[in-house]
Amino acid sequence: KPYVVGIDIGGTNTVFGIVDARGTILCSGSVKTKAYDKVEDYVTAVCENLLPLIESEGGVEKIKGIGIGAPNGNYYSGTIEFAPNLPWKGVIHLAELFQEKLGIPTALTNDANAAAVGEMTYGAARGMKDFIMITLGTGVGSGIVVNGQVVYGHDGFAGELGHVIVRENGRMCGCGRKGCLETYCSATGVARTAREFLIARSDESLLRHIPAEEIASKDVYEAAVQGDKLAQEIFEFTGELLGEALANFVAFSSPEAIVLFGGLAKSGDYIMNPVKKGLDSNVLNIYKGKTKLLVSELKDSDAAVLGASALGWELKDLKE
Ligand code: BGC
Ligand code: NA
Ligand code: ZN
Repeated sequence: KPYVVGIDIGGTNTVFGIVDARGTILCSGSVKTKAYDKVEDYVTAVCENLLPLIESEGGVEKIKGIGIGAPNGNYYSGTIEFAPNLPWKGVIHLAELFQEKLGIPTALTNDANAAAVGEMTYGAARGMKDFIMITLGTGVGSGIVVNGQVVYGHDGFAGELGHVIVRENGRMCGCGRKGCLETYCSATGVARTAREFLIARSDESLLRHIPAEEIASKDVYEAAVQGDKLAQEIFEFTGELLGEALANFVAFSSPEAIVLFGGLAKSGDYIMNPVKKGLDSNVLNIYKGKTKLLVSELKDSDAAVLGASALGWELKDLKE
């Protein structure tokens, strides 16, 4: 059984692929996550799109396992329990639903944990035993790897570093609390910062030509590249705040590296210089200059699927 399936569940899209032992995605597909109010309909839709792919690669017999990455995914129970960005409420036994439908052993984990496994197996963290993966997307996620193993914690929810509070009484977060890192340093956080800066300041900016509600972090990046001062300062604010948080994370597990992942992480020096500055100027002196700051080496579209699929090979570790 030489292949595995990787499924990455995002708030907007679900992407899935068939992956071989060398980490090559043989074929892939996607469905719109938000189009399905009922999780049963969603699972049916994913399977209907996935089965022809499986058939084209030799059938169900060739698939060793399925790995799923999902926001708030719990590896121990195979469930998602509280995912503000997904349409389904309550505890959902997602791994079980897929396993029953396809008859293939299925494991589920947090999406950022999956990305960490992907990075360790195929990307920038190859050969590393201790690193922290930070995913900067709609939310901020993390995967903490210690001694070559993802840390799951007592109940399976370890590593929710996006919900570390970085500002007292700060921005409202989807988790119901205020001031979480995710509200500032996610892609949506950058857009929120842009709207705040535009209101608070009066200087000219390319961003003033975009309707405030439509500004996305990509627009901020494009403006920064064109020399827009305000856009560059948005990245400085975001990066330094993230760097300060990373300085605290370093003290958790003394990682060899922190790997940043997601479109925002690929905004080059505009984001990475301030992150470095925030990290260097806040980290405890015993760590100073020692923690590598890396950007994911995996293609964004592939990374999550690869990361989830890597879990498919590890099913022997799954707690029954
Ligand atoms: C969730 C995490 C998830 C991250 C990225 C956060 O809001 O709490 O579980 O990894 O978003 O999707
Ligand atoms: Na995590
Ligand atoms: Zn939060």
